[in-house]
Amino acid sequence: MHKTADILESKSYVESITSIKPTVGIILGSGLGPFADTLEDAVHIPYSHIPHFAKSEAVGHSNELVIGSIGGKNVVAMKGRFHYYEGFTLDQVTFPVRLMKALGVEKLIITNACGAVNMDFNPGDLMLITDHINLIANNPLIGPNNPDLGVRFLDVSEVYNKALRNVVIDVAKELDISLRQGVYAWWTGPTYETPAEIRMIRILGADAVGMSTVPEAIIARHAGIEIVGISCLTNMACGILDLPLSHEEVIETAEKVKGQFLKLVTEVILRF
Ligand code: HPA
Repeated sequence: MHKTADILESKSYVESITSIKPTVGIILGSGLGPFADTLEDAVHIPYSHIPHFAKSEAVGHSNELVIGSIGGKNVVAMKGRFHYYEGFTLDQVTFPVRLMKALGVEKLIITNACGAVNMDFNPGDLMLITDHINLIANNPLIGPNNPDLGVRFLDVSEVYNKALRNVVIDVAKELDISLRQGVYAWWTGPTYETPAEIRMIRILGADAVGMSTVPEAIIARHAGIEIVGISCLTNMACGILDLPLSHEEVIETAEKVKGQFLKLVTEVILRF
């Protein structure tokens, strides 16, 4: 359970460094960190300096909070995130979302790199998350509920906000960026899935599979933040092609679509 005093301590620390009040947050997935470098008048705050943040060592991720603005919109970006597979608790994984809320964030874009389960999709496609499947026998809200932060029994009938999703769809159309839509399944990692697991995940109704996003999405909804999720499909999920998966491939594909991704999220933020 996140403690109100811890969140306030983190907030005070961040506010001692910048007077920028972010209303939009973005969590940057593997290879998508360069977005944070496009923020104007940005301050970079290493996670290791922020009270109550865990310390992340995932390859391909930086570890800093970047607060700045784009076209007059104040934004807080997480360059690098905490993953469950690193051994962090779900409280640690999701604490930054509580901080974002305390700083004033009302809308959050959660991004990730993930595998395509839907065989009509291709590596390099961007996918708007319509819903998710939590395949993990855990939930970030398990434990005593802190009523200062949200309700005990959270409605998750529309985790990914329909009106905000429509904004992303409109922007993608206008910018001529092809955008898939689908269901994201959360897998613990750090192993990729086996071919049999991917067959199961497809039968369960997912279009993509990855190792993040869902815990942050649940906590954001608990906190009353409206969210959208955008996935970069970096590879076909295991067993679809007769090829082993590698982290290098994930980073390489994310790198290739970085330009499109940056254009899309920048314009989306301007309309949020
Ligand atoms: N599975 C799980 N997580 C991932 C994948 C995948 O195929 N690609 C990138 N992240």
